Amino acid sequence: MTATGQTPQTDTPKEKVVLAYSGGLDTSVIVKWLQVEMNLDVIAICGNVGQDEKDLAATKQKALDLGAIVSEAIDMREEYADVILSKAIWANGKYEGTYPLLSALSRPLIAKHIVDLAHQYGAKYVAHGCTGKGNDQVRFDTCIHGLDPSLTILAPVREWNLTTREEEMEWAEAHGVPVPTTRKRPYSIDDNLWGRAIECGVLEDTWNTPPSDIWTMTANPEDCPNEPETVVIGFEGGIPTSINGEKMSLLDVIIKANEIAGRNGFGRIDVIEDRVVGIKSRECYECPASLLLIQAHQTLESLCLDAECLREKAKLDVDWAHAVYNGLWFSQNRMAIDAYNAYTQKYVTGEVRLKLCKGGLFVDGMRSPYSLYDYGLATYDEGDTFDHTASKGFIELHGLQSRTWSRVQGPGSGMQSAL
Ligand code: ARG
Repeated sequence: MTATGQTPQTDTPKEKVVLAYSGGLDTSVIVKWLQVEMNLDVIAICGNVGQDEKDLAATKQKALDLGAIVSEAIDMREEYADVILSKAIWANGKYEGTYPLLSALSRPLIAKHIVDLAHQYGAKYVAHGCTGKGNDQVRFDTCIHGLDPSLTILAPVREWNLTTREEEMEWAEAHGVPVPTTRKRPYSIDDNLWGRAIECGVLEDTWNTPPSDIWTMTANPEDCPNEPETVVIGFEGGIPTSINGEKMSLLDVIIKANEIAGRNGFGRIDVIEDRVVGIKSRECYECPASLLLIQAHQTLESLCLDAECLREKAKLDVDWAHAVYNGLWFSQNRMAIDAYNAYTQKYVTGEVRLKLCKGGLFVDGMRSPYSLYDYGLATYDEGDTFDHTASKGFIELHGLQSRTWSRVQGPGSGMQSAL
């Protein structure tokens, strides 16, 4: 019934909503909920960003079975690698020095597609399945409105009253949404090409050892071969372009690096992380390719960039990771830092050799046509080209202020008592 007491015309077209859909329980319930509670036509979009979900055709069909008018699974992997992960490598992107930002990096790409599709289908609404406690809601909302502030964002999990999983499953059963047989969800998992995040369940006690069944991308380091495996990563302009001399796309480099590092048990992380909303959370990650490629990249940068540039870049790397973690992909600052990186990365070309063994990663060699390492300057052996006499004058000026201060303070005071 409308406000005027008339029954609404059934043939008036409904408003549309584009949903970021994964095929899991939450977003499946949402497909139904948006129809039942909001009277909307649902367009369900599942982004393939390299997650461990092989049957995307079934995921897509499931949304149609739940009444979505359109359901699409879009392969975003190449774009994810070339447009987003390439920049994460440039920026050595790790939040709080540890987490390679795998979830934070995928959200802007999914948001971009959702917004494009909303425009294509003339939808006023977009929706996602994030909870009200996490970072992903911040990222989706910020990215979506960064691209189109006029869209209305629906976040049913954040808004509905189905606070417990039991209630959610009851609602699902009552509305014909298939529910998993296990009532309790052991973990919350998000995964893509850049790694895998495992949260919740027994991990919420920070003293519990992560159960071995949480790890799927990395072999148990204790069971790995005793012999190290060597891998050579080739870079052009700061982007990995080959493995062991074989040229390949960035997407293939990442897939292969995940295999190589994964089988050597490298890439596991267990960390307490500071969420945007102020909560500390215990996170387990496995990030074989991302950690390996960032380590290789950082090594090559140390060879190709000068000391001042490295110092400046290290600060900008922290800011970049912070912006991305906080959902500010579509922001002036992130783009400005990428412009700085575009300049510096012109020289980050060459190769890095690494060894993997039983969960460890060890740098084993590096070379570059732009190497600033000068054998003549560095050597302590024959062929030394460094002018040792120049150091004397340099140190004279370098220490001038300390000497002056010490002289002014007088013996026994100031600098002399600083220890
Ligand atoms: N803590 C990580 C982040 O905020 C991982 C989030 C994983 N998301 C999830 N829905 N399980 O980026």
